[in-house]
Amino acid sequence: MASNGGEPWRVLVTRSFPEAGLLLLREEPNLEVVIPDEPDASDAMPYDKMKKMLAEAPGYDALLCFLTDKIDAELLDSAGSRLKTVSTMSVGYNHMDVAACTDRKLSLGHTPDVLTNTVADFILGVLIATCRRIPAGVKVVKDDVWGKWAPLYMCGRDVHHATVGIMGLGRIGMAVAKRLAGFDCEILYSDAFRMDERAATVGATYVEFDDLLARSDIVIPLCPLTAETTGLFDATAFGKMKKTAVLVNCSRGEIVNQDALYDALKNGTIWAAGLDVTVPEPLPASDKLVGLENCMIVPHMASATVACREDMARIAARNVIAAHRGEKLPHAVPGTSK
Ligand SMILES: NC(=O)c1ccc[n+]([C@@H]2O[C@H](COP(=O)([O-])OP(=O)(O)OC[C@H]3O[C@@H](n4cnc5c(N)ncnc54)[C@H](O)[C@@H]3O)[C@@H](O)[C@H]2O)c1
Repeated sequence: MASNGGEPWRVLVTRSFPEAGLLLLREEPNLEVVIPDEPDASDAMPYDKMKKMLAEAPGYDALLCFLTDKIDAELLDSAGSRLKTVSTMSVGYNHMDVAACTDRKLSLGHTPDVLTNTVADFILGVLIATCRRIPAGVKVVKDDVWGKWAPLYMCGRDVHHATVGIMGLGRIGMAVAKRLAGFDCEILYSDAFRMDERAATVGATYVEFDDLLARSDIVIPLCPLTAETTGLFDATAFGKMKKTAVLVNCSRGEIVNQDALYDALKNGTIWAAGLDVTVPEPLPASDKLVGLENCMIVPHMASATVACREDMARIAARNVIAAHRGEKLPHAVPGTSK
């Protein structure tokens, strides 16, 4: 057990948290959980409130946060030296200043693996819906403008036998590739690391990023949001893609330059896009991308199944519990040692 002068460890959970994770935290002896009451808990805790709460005596040993929380040096400084660990209920950790956390010797947890299959299933859904124009089909029926059958009415693009380019062949990229093998797709991948042996297990072939853009019918970024990947899909990248190409982005909105994407979709530089992530989130209905018939947008819901979110909550809780017990976090953010 991590020493805290006999006082209970205090964990600030910044918003409503699935019962499955809360139960684990509450069962842990000598751990006090502080969580906002409903209805406040349904929304992300405002940054200033989080800062104020962390600064208030007696302070907190752990922060359990979400991708909606910005965790930066200023916030960590307000928490002071009592804070020992930050656990996010997400696999992506671009909302956390990892260097600021490690500088302060904080352990950092995230929730990989448990969402991989759920997210991969959803990506297939977005991919098929976008290629086969399912939202447009639903709309004409609802609007009572279902047109007469005609040879090219509602025609989209095939998924089977398509060439699919995955940018970032990590956990989710591999799971998507595995699913697409069942559609007889040719899988290309690009990544910061080449991993031919692992890629071969899902029939994926390494290509340079420019080749991936030029050869793919469907392009799926699945790399993390970092300084290098911010705006990676810009006008230049779209210009290298096929005019018939479909972009499926379920990673992070910032990876795509949305003005460039709008132009590419409007001008026919690429054919369509399916997006689970945007900038900002929520994206207002007045945004120009929303008005495009060839852009399907859904509200960041790739990991949104009850079972998946409960599993994520349990992992986020177990990371806090491990830190409390003075153990290595079961799911530490890569490159953070504790
Ligand atoms: N829409 C959602 O709800 C949702 C859910 C889960 C994950 N995600 C996003 O998906 C991303 C991937 O998740 P994962 O579990 O597969 O992560 P992962 O770490 O297993 O895989 C990421 C891959 O990207 C590669 N990569 C890193 N930097 C790169 C770069 N600059 N260029 C090319 N490749 C690079 C890595 O080498 C790795 O192979 C997460 O970072 C997150 O942003 C979104």
